[in-house]
Amino acid sequence: MDIVAKIVTKELDVETIRKDFPILQTTVHGKALVYFDNAATSQKPLVIINAIEKYYKETNSNVHRGIHYLSNKATNEFEASRKTIAAHLNASHEEIIFTRGTTEAINLVAFSFGEAFVKSGDEIIISHLEHHSNIVPWQMLCERKGAALKVIPITKEGELKMEEFKKLLSDKTKLVAVNHVSNTLGTVNPVEEIIELAHSKNIPVLLDGAQAVPHMKVDVKKLDVDFYSFSGHKLFGPTGIGVLYGKSKWLNQMPPYQGGGEMIKEVTFEKTTYNDAPLRFEAGTPNIEASIVLAKAIDYVNRIGLDVIAKHEHDLLLYTTERLEKIEGLKIIGTAPHKTAVVSFVVEGIHPSDIGILLDKQGIAVRTGHHCTQPLIDFYKIPGTVRASFAFYNTFEEIDIFVKALNKAISMLK
Ligand code: ALA
Repeated sequence: MDIVAKIVTKELDVETIRKDFPILQTTVHGKALVYFDNAATSQKPLVIINAIEKYYKETNSNVHRGIHYLSNKATNEFEASRKTIAAHLNASHEEIIFTRGTTEAINLVAFSFGEAFVKSGDEIIISHLEHHSNIVPWQMLCERKGAALKVIPITKEGELKMEEFKKLLSDKTKLVAVNHVSNTLGTVNPVEEIIELAHSKNIPVLLDGAQAVPHMKVDVKKLDVDFYSFSGHKLFGPTGIGVLYGKSKWLNQMPPYQGGGEMIKEVTFEKTTYNDAPLRFEAGTPNIEASIVLAKAIDYVNRIGLDVIAKHEHDLLLYTTERLEKIEGLKIIGTAPHKTAVVSFVVEGIHPSDIGILLDKQGIAVRTGHHCTQPLIDFYKIPGTVRASFAFYNTFEEIDIFVKALNKAISMLK
């Protein structure tokens, strides 16, 4: 019996689900598209595409600014979406800030929390697994304030060295900022333990959840996390929208990130007073359509069920890993026991980009390179990886096509 037959994923009707995604029916270079670049961005179901069109046909207006019908309609839908997002994360709606994405959410905390709480000589802890968006904003803060960045080291499997983390926590630490799931390796970090250890020293924790939220249920109250960020476009929603969850106790003490309309209570030339959170952090006209549609993406994922999604994706991960391990000269980078469905690899003597180009010719979309994690790639002393990252609409048959195409690419490049 082959592996596909052994893996039971009866709960998820992938073939039916795939019909929701028009782009999955398209061809690339004359071949049926195999989309394995879901960690970069995910594809959008019709319900999202239609909701965007419906918004511009029936609702388009500015929010929190008008007394006319359309403005009220847009405002109600915008705030209803905030409530859906809050319920999904088990947060209160005042704790949900709309941002452009995870990157802006982290920059917001680095600036505003940094202004309020970080001074010369303080320390911020991140990890060696971070995306540039969870490195650079903290470096910029440290430069501004004369603070220092400390980095949790990792094992060769791609896991955090927790004993080293414990040693880094000190009276100087003002914040711990780590990803929930690594975008390059798929490692799921022990975030409960990280939060417990940091909180035992009264240190708040920010989690970059960009690669977690599309694949697992996240409960910010249960985690007791202080800040949590994610992006809409990886969650089958539109680009240009993301979320920052922040505990009210922090948000209420943080100064605004940007100045402009919406974030004020009263403006005079002498002095401006600021709105309460979350509006205090939402200067200017927001991405109204994407904010509203993000709630539809959450509803869509919940209709399928995150438990069912996680099970199917885990089966895809096991199947791919088993198949790739049989290829001579191929090495999987990131072998933590607890991973999401991300498989990064290198092939001896072949540059990852060359493999990516030949896979593309066969209709297969993967990401190659450093995946915006240069320090992590440097740790492995490699030029980059080929990364296949899965979503619930991917199939075992697609993996078979991928493995065959990969073998062909390797034989051409060797
Ligand atoms: N952060 C995204 C990725 O990992 C863009 O590809």
